Amino acid sequence: FKNKEITVTFIKANGERIKAKGEIGNNILDIVVNNDLELDGYGACEGTLTCSTCHLIFPKDVFDNLPDKPTEEEIDMLDLAQERAPTSRLGCQIIMTEELDGIEVRVPATINDARQT
Ligand code: FES
Repeated sequence: FKNKEITVTFIKANGERIKAKGEIGNNILDIVVNNDLELDGYGACEGTLTCSTCHLIFPKDVFDNLPDKPTEEEIDMLDLAQERAPTSRLGCQIIMTEELDGIEVRVPATINDARQT
Protein backbone atom coordinates (compact mmCIF):
# COMPACT_ATOMS: atom_id res chain seq x y z
CA PHE A 1 0.00 0.00 0.00
CA LYS A 2 1.59 3.16 -1.23
CA ASN A 3 1.33 6.49 0.51
CA LYS A 4 -0.48 9.22 -1.32
CA GLU A 5 1.63 11.06 -3.87
CA ILE A 6 2.36 14.74 -3.40
CA THR A 7 4.40 17.29 -5.34
CA VAL A 8 6.84 20.01 -4.38
CA THR A 9 8.09 22.65 -6.80
CA PHE A 10 11.60 23.95 -6.22
CA ILE A 11 12.32 27.42 -7.57
CA LYS A 12 16.01 27.95 -8.13
CA ALA A 13 17.71 31.34 -7.87
CA ASN A 14 17.93 31.52 -11.67
CA GLY A 15 14.17 31.15 -11.91
CA GLU A 16 14.22 27.54 -13.03
CA ARG A 17 11.32 25.56 -11.60
CA ILE A 18 11.64 21.89 -10.80
CA LYS A 19 8.50 19.98 -9.94
CA ALA A 20 9.20 16.80 -8.02
CA LYS A 21 7.03 13.98 -6.74
CA GLY A 22 7.13 12.40 -3.34
CA GLU A 23 4.88 10.75 -0.81
CA ILE A 24 3.21 11.88 2.36
CA GLY A 25 5.67 11.19 5.15
CA ASN A 26 8.75 12.03 3.06
CA ASN A 27 10.77 14.98 4.22
CA ILE A 28 11.82 17.47 1.55
CA LEU A 29 15.38 16.18 1.52
CA ASP A 30 14.04 12.69 0.73
CA ILE A 31 12.23 14.18 -2.25
CA VAL A 32 15.40 15.85 -3.55
CA VAL A 33 17.39 12.62 -3.15
CA ASN A 34 14.75 10.25 -4.50
CA ASN A 35 14.26 12.38 -7.62
CA ASP A 36 17.99 12.93 -8.07
CA LEU A 37 17.37 16.67 -8.40
CA GLU A 38 20.21 18.84 -9.57
CA LEU A 39 20.67 21.01 -6.53
CA ASP A 40 24.42 21.11 -6.02
CA GLY A 41 25.46 20.27 -2.49
CA TYR A 42 21.91 20.05 -1.20
CA GLY A 43 21.49 17.79 1.81
CA ALA A 44 25.18 17.24 2.46
CA CYS A 45 24.72 15.92 5.99
CA GLU A 46 21.86 13.59 5.00
CA GLY A 47 19.41 15.14 7.40
CA THR A 48 21.50 14.97 10.55
CA LEU A 49 21.14 18.72 11.19
CA THR A 50 24.81 19.56 10.84
CA CYS A 51 25.09 21.30 7.46
CA SER A 52 22.29 23.80 6.58
CA THR A 53 22.65 23.01 2.85
CA CYS A 54 19.01 21.96 2.76
CA HIS A 55 17.89 25.53 3.54
CA LEU A 56 14.70 26.54 1.73
CA ILE A 57 12.58 29.66 1.79
CA PHE A 58 8.85 29.11 2.11
CA PRO A 59 5.94 31.32 1.11
CA LYS A 60 4.65 33.02 4.26
CA ASP A 61 1.25 31.29 4.28
CA VAL A 62 2.89 27.89 3.95
CA PHE A 63 5.51 28.70 6.57
CA ASP A 64 2.86 29.78 9.05
CA ASN A 65 1.03 26.49 8.65
CA LEU A 66 3.92 24.06 8.75
CA PRO A 67 3.00 21.26 11.15
CA ASP A 68 6.20 21.36 13.22
CA LYS A 69 7.96 24.36 14.69
CA PRO A 70 11.74 24.33 14.29
CA THR A 71 13.76 22.71 17.05
CA GLU A 72 16.61 24.59 18.68
CA GLU A 73 19.07 22.51 16.66
CA GLU A 74 17.38 23.56 13.45
CA ILE A 75 17.42 27.22 14.46
CA ASP A 76 21.13 27.01 15.25
CA MET A 77 21.78 25.59 11.78
CA LEU A 78 19.58 28.19 10.11
CA ASP A 79 21.68 30.87 11.77
CA LEU A 80 24.55 29.64 9.61
CA ALA A 81 22.61 29.59 6.35
CA GLN A 82 23.22 32.22 3.69
CA GLU A 83 20.31 34.42 2.60
CA ARG A 84 18.29 33.42 5.62
CA ALA A 85 14.77 34.84 5.41
CA PRO A 86 12.00 35.13 8.01
CA THR A 87 10.35 32.11 6.38
CA SER A 88 13.47 29.94 6.11
CA ARG A 89 13.46 26.32 7.21
CA LEU A 90 15.64 23.31 6.68
CA GLY A 91 14.17 20.94 4.11
CA CYS A 92 15.31 17.81 5.93
CA GLN A 93 13.11 18.78 8.87
CA ILE A 94 9.92 19.35 6.89
CA ILE A 95 7.77 16.26 6.61
CA MET A 96 5.21 16.31 3.85
CA THR A 97 1.55 16.14 4.77
CA GLU A 98 -1.51 16.15 2.58
CA GLU A 99 -1.95 19.87 3.31
CA LEU A 100 1.53 20.61 1.97
CA ASP A 101 0.84 18.97 -1.39
CA GLY A 102 1.76 21.31 -4.25
CA ILE A 103 3.86 23.80 -2.29
CA GLU A 104 6.49 25.91 -4.00
CA VAL A 105 9.74 26.59 -2.19
CA ARG A 106 12.69 28.79 -3.05
CA VAL A 107 16.19 27.40 -3.12
CA PRO A 108 18.72 30.06 -2.07
CA ALA A 109 21.46 30.95 -4.56
CA THR A 110 24.17 29.90 -2.15
CA ILE A 111 24.11 26.46 -0.64
CA ASN A 112 26.36 26.78 2.36
CA ASP A 113 27.82 23.79 4.13
CA ALA A 114 28.18 24.89 7.74
CA ARG A 115 30.72 22.14 8.34
CA GLN A 116 33.19 23.99 6.11
CA THR A 117 33.07 27.37 7.83
FE1 FES B 1 22.01 18.92 6.60
FE2 FES B 1 19.35 19.30 6.54
S1 FES B 1 20.53 18.05 5.25
S2 FES B 1 20.81 20.12 7.92
